[in-house]
Amino acid sequence: MTQSYMTHLECPKCGISYDPDQVNQVCSCGAPLLVKYDMKALGAAIKKEDLLNRAPSMWRYREFLPLRKEENIVTLGEGMTPIIPLQKIGARLSLNNLFMKDEGIIPGGTFKTRGATVGVSRAKELGVKVLAMPTNGNAGGTWATYSARADIKAYIVMPEDAPAITRKECAVSGAALYLVRGLISDAGKIVGRAVERYGWFDASTLKEPYRIEGKKTMGLEIAEQFSWVLPDIILYPTGGGVGIIGIYKAMCELQEIGWIGEKMPRLVSVQAAGCAPIVKAWERKETQSTFWENSATVAFGINVPKALGDFLILDAVYKTNGCAVAVDDKEILQAQASLGAEEGAFVCPEGAATLAAAIRLYNQGWIKPDDKVLLLNTGTGLKYPETVKVEAPTMDPDADLPE
Ligand SMILES: Cc1ncc(COP(=O)(O)O)c(C=O)c1O
Ligand SMILES: [Zn+2]
Repeated sequence: MTQSYMTHLECPKCGISYDPDQVNQVCSCGAPLLVKYDMKALGAAIKKEDLLNRAPSMWRYREFLPLRKEENIVTLGEGMTPIIPLQKIGARLSLNNLFMKDEGIIPGGTFKTRGATVGVSRAKELGVKVLAMPTNGNAGGTWATYSARADIKAYIVMPEDAPAITRKECAVSGAALYLVRGLISDAGKIVGRAVERYGWFDASTLKEPYRIEGKKTMGLEIAEQFSWVLPDIILYPTGGGVGIIGIYKAMCELQEIGWIGEKMPRLVSVQAAGCAPIVKAWERKETQSTFWENSATVAFGINVPKALGDFLILDAVYKTNGCAVAVDDKEILQAQASLGAEEGAFVCPEGAATLAAAIRLYNQGWIKPDDKVLLLNTGTGLKYPETVKVEAPTMDPDADLPE
């Protein structure tokens, strides 16, 4: 039996509460809903030390998660990804405390799986039979996988140029897959019309409240893995923003129960120069973004021209004295190559963007040599084989290797 301390869903814009034991999507005002817990009861029920005896899975934080019953958890064994020191790159750049949390080592190969395990589990718990979602690929692939496990029919719509492997994840799990000649925002409109017409569950980013809770576990893990003393700076590649919003939510909840101190890490929203609506809004000190026209980047997951939760992303950045920074595709691919060649890490371009951003911020003096800096690599490079060019000579069996 899981003890959840979830009390209600709340709109961060207008404050209206919703019953968490009914199917809910967004607030009547259109804003995403956030899950609220009885933090006092939660803080009294569990101590940090209790975690030590639990399995190395993100479900070790079950009190911080919204599942009512353990039997509804749909899991493939996700979470507790490693944090690795980047000593060689750190030494080269004079960043003396550089680390990377590697989400590539998780079912489905990206952090999207954290959102899927919690989101699909809650959908199952609430009796959802059919869901639909627009995606840039990775979320669709992993939601298709977990939906198969939960006996939920999944309709997935993605841009036709999304990473090809994510189509196969959908196909192998029996999802209904559709490709759109356009962007994720176009896929979103198609899903919106279908949801309206057929009454399906809308699993679009931030249109259901539970995906954030899954992503929040990255923040909980970071805190536990750093022995409850958080790094100075966390850099996160930002598309729809659920990852960075989730990490911020985790930090706030941990502060509320006194597991971490006053100091919050400065959160950096990293975007691609070809799609940087959050960066533009941050530079203008605005609290919302505007639609980014003609967006394009090799870091496909962060090609999101307008995020529903833009105001939450910007809030997390402002409240933590963080910043938003854009890097171009050339810098991203250079960073991906150096992570491979110097650290043996084959990361996705979105993850590589955080290293490129750290270099920029260091050069600008925003990051200091002794700051403890954590890069979030959101997925494995194995899902993006086309980003690495290979020139290998082919040999006859009797040919010899040159020295
Ligand atoms: C590998 C990867 N990194 C980062 C992101 C952006 O995530 P978020 O929507 O949480 O900002 C995505 C989204 O598709 C992704 O696939
Ligand atoms: Zn509202």
